[in-house]
Amino acid sequence: MPTPGLKNHATFVEHWTLPLQFPLGALVLLCVMTSARAALPGDSADGKRLHDAHCTQCHDTGVYTRKDPLVLSLDALKQQLQDCSHMAKAQFSPAQMQNVVKFLNDQFYHFP
Ligand code: HEC
Repeated sequence: MPTPGLKNHATFVEHWTLPLQFPLGALVLLCVMTSARAALPGDSADGKRLHDAHCTQCHDTGVYTRKDPLVLSLDALKQQLQDCSHMAKAQFSPAQMQNVVKFLNDQFYHFP
């Protein structure tokens, strides 16, 4: 990562002072959402694309939000993904795998 230059710094400040004009509740919500998103590396949008292309033949997204989920941790989610992508005959690179994990966790599981 290059050190941000002056211009980037100015944009950064402008970007982050904007939410301060929102009511406090909205600001807190924004922070929570932002930190949840930032928790995992990867590209959630690419994860969704891969997911929608490979992962909906056998189950829909309802299995991720059902009352007794199989998956109870981030590690279990990664393991389940190994098994499922194998069944899906999808050849994911480690980066693509990470993107799908991020998508599922951001959208459905929300593991810390
Ligand atoms: C060949 C069929 C098949 C394909 C394709 C498939 N899955 Fe699955 N998946 C299953 C089955 C079967 C289960 C277990 C369902 C059960 O026990 O009720 C499951 C469960 C899961 C769970 C656990 C849900 C929970 O209870 O928390 C996740 C997460 C999951 N799949 C992700 C994926 C992803 C991501 C893909 C695409 C890479 C995928 N699956 C493709 C068959 C499949």
